Amino acid sequence: MPARNHSQWTAEPPLQQGEWVDSRIYSDQEIFEEENEKLFKHIWVPVCHESELPNAYDFRTTSIAREPIIIVRGADNEVRAFLNVCPHRGMMIERRPSGSFLEGQPSGNPKRMTCMFHAWQFDMKGNCVYVAREQEGYQDRLCKENVGLRRLRCEVKFGGFVWVNLDDSPKVSLEEWAGPAFECLRETLDAEPLEVFHYHKAIVNTNYKLWHDTNSEFYHDFMHYHNRVTGFNDAYFARKNEAFDNGHVVVGTFTVNYENYEGFESRAELSFPHLPPNQWYMIDLFPGFNFNLRGSALRCDTVTPLGPNQVLIEFRGLGLKRDTPEERMTRINHHNSIWGPFGRNLHEDLVGVVGQGATMAPKSEPRRILHGRQENQTIHDENGMRHYYEEWGRWINRSPTNPTQPYTPRAGAAGDAAVAAAE
Ligand code: FES
Ligand SMILES: [Fe+2]
Repeated sequence: MPARNHSQWTAEPPLQQGEWVDSRIYSDQEIFEEENEKLFKHIWVPVCHESELPNAYDFRTTSIAREPIIIVRGADNEVRAFLNVCPHRGMMIERRPSGSFLEGQPSGNPKRMTCMFHAWQFDMKGNCVYVAREQEGYQDRLCKENVGLRRLRCEVKFGGFVWVNLDDSPKVSLEEWAGPAFECLRETLDAEPLEVFHYHKAIVNTNYKLWHDTNSEFYHDFMHYHNRVTGFNDAYFARKNEAFDNGHVVVGTFTVNYENYEGFESRAELSFPHLPPNQWYMIDLFPGFNFNLRGSALRCDTVTPLGPNQVLIEFRGLGLKRDTPEERMTRINHHNSIWGPFGRNLHEDLVGVVGQGATMAPKSEPRRILHGRQENQTIHDENGMRHYYEEWGRWINRSPTNPTQPYTPRAGAAGDAAVAAAE
């Protein structure tokens, strides 16, 4: 077909409903705000891994939908999450990304979360234990017991990840939310303690959904030279792309031929427990969390949308806690050679999604983004993205194909996850 004029360029493609989306869902400020309110404030978010809080009084801070969060390990070894907000006058209590409350600080007592503004103190269970000059100022009108922190639902699950939900009454439990999608790796991830050995984060000028797409669609393996030479055989093209309830997708495994890439080696010796050597599973959890196991290393990506065209992505690499120093070095090498900031694939993905972000900035002209490949729900089928955007439409109550209209179920969409369950 020759190049198209404006009306041809903006016309609907000759595909079925659900096989394309409108690019406004990636660029509209109002939709971004609705995503925070309707979606991110109600879903289970993997905020970190328990190995990042190895000792009592360790903490990490993060945010969900603009709400600052603090995660702490108590003296009783429990991991708990709270809003990182002082109940006095709303200061952010802890500003460091991570650390320990065990030792005292210039403006904080040991074993306490201390708000440096007016010196109120909280224990690791979120109880307020000290209000400066409490009696003098408040007499008997307000006391410590009235001003505890805002606690959040928090669970450690699926290989030791710490999950937080801002909603006190989520629609479904964490197990119901993610359990079926994790089934393929549950035994592997829970066989023994895991440990984070790599962490970096990036602020990327693209929409968070486009990042999630690149983690869940494998058609773009044409961009990855590494994946073409280590895969692209019959077993690769037969990998299943399975949809699960709640918008999740799992890409099934095959044996990766790492030695086909010059300078790389088999990962068989360090493959995770209960799996054949050199397998590659991908669990894509709606709406933006990815668990990617390549034989000897697990990668987890977590998105925090910052705007319609900006996302904070946290990248973690994990191995087995019991690794010897030599094993750990090998595992780090396996991870970083593909997924480190200077590795083979990660920056290629970033170039792809930043290129999309460059054409879909706020106010750019809307156009259609195609998700219409049909290949028997195998790896280059785009059923995973169709399933994802169906779920997105449900949560936001907008049609992904025309976001000015309310959501209506796509014909056949209910069957996506049912197919997976039946197989
Ligand atoms: S704002 Fe925290 S003690 Fe005043
Ligand atoms: Fe990729």
